[in-house]
Amino acid sequence: MSQAANIQTELAGRRIVLGLTGGVACYKAAALCRALTGAGAAVRVVMTDAACQFITPVTMQALSGHPVFTSPWDARPDDGMAHIHISRDADAIVVAPASADFIARLAQGRASDLLSLLCLARPAERVPLLLAPAMNREMWAHPATQRNLRQTVDDGAHVLSVAYGAQACGEIGAGRMLEADQLLEEVIAFFAPKSLLGQRVLITAGPTFEAIDPVRGLSNRSSGKMGFALARAAREAGAQVTLIAGPVALPTPALVERIDVQSALDMRAAVLAHVDAASVFIATAAVADWRPTQYAAHKIKKDGSDQPPALALAENPDILAEVARSPRARAGQLYCVGFAAESGDLLANAQAKRERKGVPLLVGNLGPETFGRDDNVLLLVDEHGATELPRASKRQLAQQLVTDIARRVAGVVA
Ligand code: CTP
Repeated sequence: MSQAANIQTELAGRRIVLGLTGGVACYKAAALCRALTGAGAAVRVVMTDAACQFITPVTMQALSGHPVFTSPWDARPDDGMAHIHISRDADAIVVAPASADFIARLAQGRASDLLSLLCLARPAERVPLLLAPAMNREMWAHPATQRNLRQTVDDGAHVLSVAYGAQACGEIGAGRMLEADQLLEEVIAFFAPKSLLGQRVLITAGPTFEAIDPVRGLSNRSSGKMGFALARAAREAGAQVTLIAGPVALPTPALVERIDVQSALDMRAAVLAHVDAASVFIATAAVADWRPTQYAAHKIKKDGSDQPPALALAENPDILAEVARSPRARAGQLYCVGFAAESGDLLANAQAKRERKGVPLLVGNLGPETFGRDDNVLLLVDEHGATELPRASKRQLAQQLVTDIARRVAGVVA
């Protein structure tokens, strides 16, 4: 299944009220509306008068495919109770942008406009409220805004992070609204089952690069996509995630701590520095097996002799096997998962590798058929045998694998 087909189902069946309040970031709300509907959600838009100064209801109506509500006095519902109907039918209310003034109104429980009215009138135990703040950095940092935000959190709202950067007013600082694709990721994460809540997950991903000289090195074709997808899925499942990444060109999943490394020795050092805090270790990295014994400080030149330079290699340490042998792993305080990239005879190779590495779970895949692609087939090998996760996007496989790992960590045999 293609990535596009997958993304269309992530919010399938979800009914989301998208609330817009006054702010330049309203232009991003248009893209968010599209992203939400593109992910399968049914979106109903509610705008404050201030929001209508920045973007028109016509635009939001066209993008959501439904009439936009702006006033508590709207006569369209038969009983005139838009605030009740809209909030009762929703799976979540997402206010993006949430202005400082709107957050202040929420904190005080005001109901002077349709959006704050329906936030107040929503059944809070069943309809979560997500706020995507957007404002000037001074307004964001003001104690009143921070106090109001704390109050909304105490009252059950879920406040999304803000971005740091150049603002419409020309200043630079914190308070920008996240981009539409980041907000979509946050909304999807919000709905994900929290099967890894309280766990700290350490993941290695991508290839390693073993430098020969300043311009050359040994590496492999791993794209890091599976490891990054797992980091995202584990974070969505409620885990605190640290991702140790070899050289890859992938964006960091939201709220994941990322540490970039180059060589296998760097990766080993980063893993050893973080593994004591982890309760789950997932080694997806395609660690280069060998490194040059010597690094040439300057580019090696052809010397005209027709003789290529002799390249002496040393074997890299096996990071996964070392971690799996550690006292915490042996005592069951650290659950270790390995990956195996094979070019054939997957089952036999994966079973042998699981025993050699001393891990309870090893995930096998055929390297040449998956490197760089967005989909894959996985073979889960444990002490009882093997289970296949059929071909799907790496995003879906990561979600399935995280659910499986969570059951194993909780002691429920998959
Ligand atoms: N691994 C590791 N450190 C290494 C080599 C591998 O941590 N130096 C981890 C990988 O991240 C993966 C697992 O071990 O989780 C298996 O990696 P793979 O490259 O398939 O196996 P190798 O041990 O390198 O064995 P071979 O190349 O001989 O198949």
